[in-house]
Amino acid sequence: MLEPFGKEEDVKFGLTSELFNNLKRGTTLVEFSSPNIAKKFHAGHLRSTIIGNFIANLKQSLGNNVIRMNYLGDWGMQFGLLGAGFGQFGCQEKLKQNPLQHLFEVYVQVNKEAEHNEDMKQAARDFFRQLEQHESEAVSLWQQFREITVDEYQHIYKRLGVHFDIYSGESFHQDQAQEVVQQLQSRGLLKTSERGTGVVDLSPAGDMSSACTVLRSDGTTLYISRDLAAAIDRKAKYNFDEMIYVTDKSQENHFQQLFHILLAMGHSWADRCRHVPFGLVRGMKTRSGEVVFLEDVLDEARARMLHNMSQSKTTKEMDNPEDTAEKVGISALIVQDFKGPLLSDYTFDWDRMLQAQGDTGVFLQYTHARLCSLIRRNDGAKAAVFDPSLLFDQTSITILQHLLRYDEVLFKSAQDLQPKHLVNFYEAVPPDCLST
Ligand code: ARG
Repeated sequence: MLEPFGKEEDVKFGLTSELFNNLKRGTTLVEFSSPNIAKKFHAGHLRSTIIGNFIANLKQSLGNNVIRMNYLGDWGMQFGLLGAGFGQFGCQEKLKQNPLQHLFEVYVQVNKEAEHNEDMKQAARDFFRQLEQHESEAVSLWQQFREITVDEYQHIYKRLGVHFDIYSGESFHQDQAQEVVQQLQSRGLLKTSERGTGVVDLSPAGDMSSACTVLRSDGTTLYISRDLAAAIDRKAKYNFDEMIYVTDKSQENHFQQLFHILLAMGHSWADRCRHVPFGLVRGMKTRSGEVVFLEDVLDEARARMLHNMSQSKTTKEMDNPEDTAEKVGISALIVQDFKGPLLSDYTFDWDRMLQAQGDTGVFLQYTHARLCSLIRRNDGAKAAVFDPSLLFDQTSITILQHLLRYDEVLFKSAQDLQPKHLVNFYEAVPPDCLST
């Protein structure tokens, strides 16, 4: 006879299986979300946020020490434009009230202006140079943009149940990126191209048929050089056993090049770095048009869910319907995203994802709520001893057999880092076991 499960055992369900006996455990650094300051937060950032969070949670459940890192796009010419444009189009008051919106507006305006105005372009270059030279006025404006953005994001991440241990960013590695270029040079890995740029030859034959640019002809660094510096710095600081990057599949080549160069530099741990790519989302729109900010998607999910709840005859009276709509709406968003293989593209569909029946997050939450209510109503029965030998009707046996496969499902997700096994585990419960 089995003892009834207590809280702690509930959390460990499936994880104590011998399937996990040989699993290597250690420190896992997961880098995810990583939006760009002043630019649009697109569907790819939403996917990176929820998939990265899933991987971090999974790794933690499996007994790893997990470091959650957000690598902000907080450097580059966009800050030259933003800094130069803020004087003309910016407003401190608006920046305080609605930072992401305002920074984006300024960014759009200044980009438009720079298209035909040479002075503006020059001002942007000047501002960026001041930043690169750490001039205090430029740096303090940049810092303000960054802090305000991080505050705002933290607020939104909380709605998603996501947190980060570290907010790093490209800006942290500009100086180190120059050092990395020097190391490449001293190891004889850096070549100068005909255009005067610094490149690393990645072709097996050494004929430059595949090369990666790490230095511009004006001596400034690039996205990949900052990533090289960031990886080396993270290894030194956190001594991770594995590092996982979560971005859309358009960056696959970037990460292959990154790992390749790290290995060529003698960093054998690059073998334990992994890129988890995912597909594109088509048609993520809200009622007011194309999505620019993450908050808009979350607000729309909540509003649509609230509307559906008010239309349904079976909705019970509740204290805080907004809060319920928020949680169920977000589950719907996540389940829609996790159902298929990560690499597949999918079309965003509000109506389909918010359906009350079928393989949706709404139905998942509904089932969870019903199970919680069952437990609540049978509170006194908790202490009773569970005797599975009494459950010999076919439905009970089917459910038990299904539950016993949970460790295999977890194991699959642990191997390929795909959430679909877990999400579809619930869905694979034989339908007649779920009916009332
Ligand atoms: N900020 C980048 C973007 O929006 C993503 C960063 C991904 N991580 C990295 N280490 N390169 O495209």
